[in-house]
Amino acid sequence: MSQREDLTFIDLFAGIGGIRLAFEAIGGSCVMTSELDKWARQTYSAYFDEDEEDDHFNWDIKDLDPSEVPDHDVLTGGFPCQSFSIAGVSKKNALGRSHGFDDPTTGTLFFDIKEILLEKQPKAFLLENVKNLQSHDGGDTWKVIAACLHEAGYVFTSKVLDAADVVPQHRERVFIVGFHRDAFGVEEDRFLDWDAFWDDVDNRIGHFADEFRQTYGVPPEEKWPRVGPILESHEKVPDKYTLTENMWEYLQDYKRKHRAKGNGFGYGMVKRDDAYTRTLSARYYKDGSEALVYRGEDRRPRRLTPLECARLQGFPADFQRMYDRSEKGPEQPVSDTQAYKQFGNSVCVPIVTAISKSIRPLLEVPSDLTEFPDADVAVQEELFSDYDNETIVSAVSAG
Ligand SMILES: C[S@@+](CC[C@H](N)C(=O)[O-])C[C@H]1O[C@@H](n2cnc3c(N)ncnc32)[C@H](O)[C@@H]1O
Repeated sequence: MSQREDLTFIDLFAGIGGIRLAFEAIGGSCVMTSELDKWARQTYSAYFDEDEEDDHFNWDIKDLDPSEVPDHDVLTGGFPCQSFSIAGVSKKNALGRSHGFDDPTTGTLFFDIKEILLEKQPKAFLLENVKNLQSHDGGDTWKVIAACLHEAGYVFTSKVLDAADVVPQHRERVFIVGFHRDAFGVEEDRFLDWDAFWDDVDNRIGHFADEFRQTYGVPPEEKWPRVGPILESHEKVPDKYTLTENMWEYLQDYKRKHRAKGNGFGYGMVKRDDAYTRTLSARYYKDGSEALVYRGEDRRPRRLTPLECARLQGFPADFQRMYDRSEKGPEQPVSDTQAYKQFGNSVCVPIVTAISKSIRPLLEVPSDLTEFPDADVAVQEELFSDYDNETIVSAVSAG
């Protein structure tokens, strides 16, 4: 692919398009979007100017025939995590080309990703998931995912990255990046240098952190990330974001009870000088308890506003405008409740952009591969690196 040619990608489990922003940032054009949730589609359509009724959109990946997916260079998706049972996975099924009747992924959303990879054979993919994907269900989920990706023809790597390296939110997510062996001439004796790949990603994350520091006017002698600079001034935040007396009483009570039992459950309060908030989750709308904003000893705390959530996820300024009450810009596309769910489900955009920027040169310069003596061994080690290899191979073979 020449540098001038467009890079195409598909945006699966798209949410509000955090991954799309990262791939548009490298000149990519999105040729298909799949998203089930009507409110997420509403936000997505408002920003990307897509009509959710047109062919570009698929509403439920379960209704999608892989052969109808447009050709694309990169498949992307932050898929919901469900577990797969390793029982019944035959070695032939998991590691060979055949798949079908006892495929452990059938019925799960990962199955749909795998089917598209098998059918369309894009050059690369990026998948995102919760940090514990690799230990989920005692490691079985990851074993099956790894075996399926291998089966579909990909070499791949994964790493847990924390949004707190760029923005003031602690959010650890696992990112799985894969390249098709054939598309890159990855032969039996050639392999990608994953360490160099992740070093590159880390460098870019460092650059983004510097850019955000500048955006928020934090001088070099002050620490960044820090919560204060992303907060709206309390005076400008409407009262509806302040916790009701009942809710505040309830949360304090809950925390006291749990503290008495010796555990740390309960709300998280952030002050301006804190380095980061806890992870925003899709349930933030309920009580805001994972990240309440401190307003002084004698005042009840408030929730983050949707604009602050957009900043915590590193969304660009023109996306943030949709949530900026002070601007005569576009309307907020959905209710606060939906906006909180959407930001809680979203990726941290600059983290994914650091990855997309590191993927891009590998799509263009296939000769840039590092020689490894025995790719198959390396692939197996990579697949099963967290587990005892023999146990897994025999568990997979036993089915
Ligand atoms: C973890 S979120 C991904 C968010 C996205 N990466 C972003 O940055 O906003 C998973 C998304 O998958 C969507 N989803 C769940 N089941 C689906 C299905 N059957 N077809 C299409 N999308 C689905 C959910 O509605 C949700 O928005």
